[in-house]
Amino acid sequence: MTIRPPLGRIAAPVTLRPHLPSSGLVTPSAPFRREGPAKLTGTALYTDDLVFPGAWYGQTIRSTEARARLLGVELDPGFDWTRVVVVTAADIPGANIVNSIQDDQPILAVDEIRHHAEPVALVAAPDRALLREAVAHVALRTSPLQPVFDPLASSQVFAHYDIQTGDVEAALAGAALVVEGEYRVGHQEQLYIENNAMIAVPRDDGGVAVHGSLQCPYYVHKALRRSLLLSDAQAQVIQAETGGGFGGKEEYPSILALHAALLARACARPVRMIYDRHEDIAATTKRHPAIVTYRSGVSADGRLVAQEIEIVMDAGAYCTLSPVVLSRGTLHAGGPYACPNVRIRSRAVATNTPPNGAFRGFGAPQTEFAAEMQVNRIAEALAVSPLELRRRWLYRPGDTTPTGQVLRESVAAEEALERAAEASEFERVRARTAAARTSRVSRGDAADGHLAHGIGLALAWHGAGFTGSGEVHLESVASVELTGDGRIVILVGSTEMGQGTKTIFPQLVAEALGVPMDDVEFAPQDTSIVPDSGPTVASRTAMVVGGLVIGACRRLRAVVEERSGAPFADSYRADAQAHGPTRIDEHFEPYPGVDFDDTTYRGDAYPAFGWASAIAEVDVDLDTGEVAVRSVVAADDVGRVIHPVLAEGQVEGGTLQAVGYATIEEIKLRDGRYLNDRLATYLIPTALDAPRIETILVEAPFSGAPHGAKGIGELPMDVGAPAVVAAIHDATGVWIHDLPASPERILAAMASRDAESQG
Ligand code: MTE
Ligand code: MOS
Repeated sequence: MTIRPPLGRIAAPVTLRPHLPSSGLVTPSAPFRREGPAKLTGTALYTDDLVFPGAWYGQTIRSTEARARLLGVELDPGFDWTRVVVVTAADIPGANIVNSIQDDQPILAVDEIRHHAEPVALVAAPDRALLREAVAHVALRTSPLQPVFDPLASSQVFAHYDIQTGDVEAALAGAALVVEGEYRVGHQEQLYIENNAMIAVPRDDGGVAVHGSLQCPYYVHKALRRSLLLSDAQAQVIQAETGGGFGGKEEYPSILALHAALLARACARPVRMIYDRHEDIAATTKRHPAIVTYRSGVSADGRLVAQEIEIVMDAGAYCTLSPVVLSRGTLHAGGPYACPNVRIRSRAVATNTPPNGAFRGFGAPQTEFAAEMQVNRIAEALAVSPLELRRRWLYRPGDTTPTGQVLRESVAAEEALERAAEASEFERVRARTAAARTSRVSRGDAADGHLAHGIGLALAWHGAGFTGSGEVHLESVASVELTGDGRIVILVGSTEMGQGTKTIFPQLVAEALGVPMDDVEFAPQDTSIVPDSGPTVASRTAMVVGGLVIGACRRLRAVVEERSGAPFADSYRADAQAHGPTRIDEHFEPYPGVDFDDTTYRGDAYPAFGWASAIAEVDVDLDTGEVAVRSVVAADDVGRVIHPVLAEGQVEGGTLQAVGYATIEEIKLRDGRYLNDRLATYLIPTALDAPRIETILVEAPFSGAPHGAKGIGELPMDVGAPAVVAAIHDATGVWIHDLPASPERILAAMASRDAESQG
């Protein structure tokens, strides 16, 4: 069956915003999403849809304690174990380690259990009923150990950084105003639509093929090779259709793939491991909670002269990606403001909770929340508009960051700010909410219907691509092949998880080769077919891998046109017939003039930054503390727009995740266990909670990428929460320092404010 794009309203040509200038490098257009029709019609094959005859079902035996000595895995002798397979750490042929930054996380726990829901053993059975029965006959023998839950009390540090420029102590001592604050943000669950899922299938060569829901096929590939002692070819990783990742399928799929593969090896059959929502929330990674303490100094003439920042991130029981999450959080903690004296100290520590990991924004939303709270509170203390204060302080071209990076180009803090302010009529609305607040106070109650309206503003920056020399170490490769039968195929390890890879890459190739987009194919994300283009993380795909793809196309085009003496579009089919396949592998080359020292943390932390502003309007019910976010105007600088509809979709989705982070998303813990580990109890915004979101795409191209594009995937996540909390303050007069700004916290803050003013 062939699937055609649906006709009707959405098939109408998309009119581009007049503010999108054509660069001549990319012509922004909005073709259908490549994988959209199959998703819409239900024919897309997610992992659970894949059929492997004779496959068994696998399940994980997990700890029920936060910390304990593991004395044994006991199999009830009354159960017939010949009908199932059981795998423990003893069955792992290679390293019992989930390959990541540190070698600390076991695939299956051995002597010590370090968090609730930690995998200890695996069981597979031919059907689900028998599996359930078998699992019920496995018991863990343990003796309790003292757990650590408070990150401030933890003595185990996974990573720490110290960034210093100027003399903070002296600057704070001489400042006319010093504003201090402590801010706390909690766990956040990625809540992709599709849970983590993996199927392992034994290969004839003794290896294993895993099909799964994942962001980074080569991360999984490396993990399989290492722990199962497989060759490159014996380990095969194939991405199935993936229902969202948001960072939650960056590192976690490695452990799940290993579990499925170990069981498949044990029973010599395909094994399916498809998490349900409860297991997915209970056991997989979350956004790192953080405690950020901040001191900002302002001079008598209103300049930002000092920032002293301390960050503690709670990594959970194992290191996972915490050093890089912390690094990004640290590098962004000052916010997008020039400041001559900065000291940022940070650490990521171990607690006996499930390990935290990647989540959209990767540490920056946590610290930029604190940065923006500070700026908004300083504006209040100085009695200046938060918009005006940012106009004075924001980074402009030529400014220097705390790592000594000179922002030479692609700096759009001002444009993002001004565009959002203009579209939201920020000052006009703010004057109105101020007047309403005054009349409420003068009447001494919330007489105007108990609802208070507020508007709030935030500004952020987000480094594009991997931090520091990360991109150099990745050595990414992207390929384009003109096949012997005259097809044009993109070969990349970059995955589609809803953000648009499968659509924008054919767009870039079509443009670079001068052919229609329909002539361009996208090879499956299968490690036996595509090269390692680096992970699909850090919003790097459009900029870094997209840049490589364009580079490969330019070389392919030159080869063919040189041979044929005719334009590529007119000659490539004949060229393929005459010369056979031509494949170009494009290797990453360091961006010129970008230099970072990983040991001293000095230099160009990112090749370029994206810039974003969000302005939120809220209604707060003064009786119940409930917040309704009514609208968000989001201005985001993407460098260059490739696909306006998908780019706007990224901003809308990221903004809504930030609204959830700001208002309702919260994980409650007891004894290191997540209490609300179900969809019924972990709340995210629904359609009814979604504000009206107006997206403004700003374009400040980055010259290091051939098309000028930076990233857009994570940027909006940095600004939403502080904008909403500022709007809540505008409505209520109270600052909420801890996320989420729940009704309980808002009521408590108002009550203590009222108690103070009466006392
Ligand atoms: N958008 C959708 N629809 N689904 C996702 O899983 N992940 C986000 C963001 N936007 C995600 C998404 C995260 S965490 C990142 S790092 C980027 O997309 C990765 O994709 P990119 O490199 O193509 O920007
Ligand atoms: Mo995104 S958190 O870098 O997968």
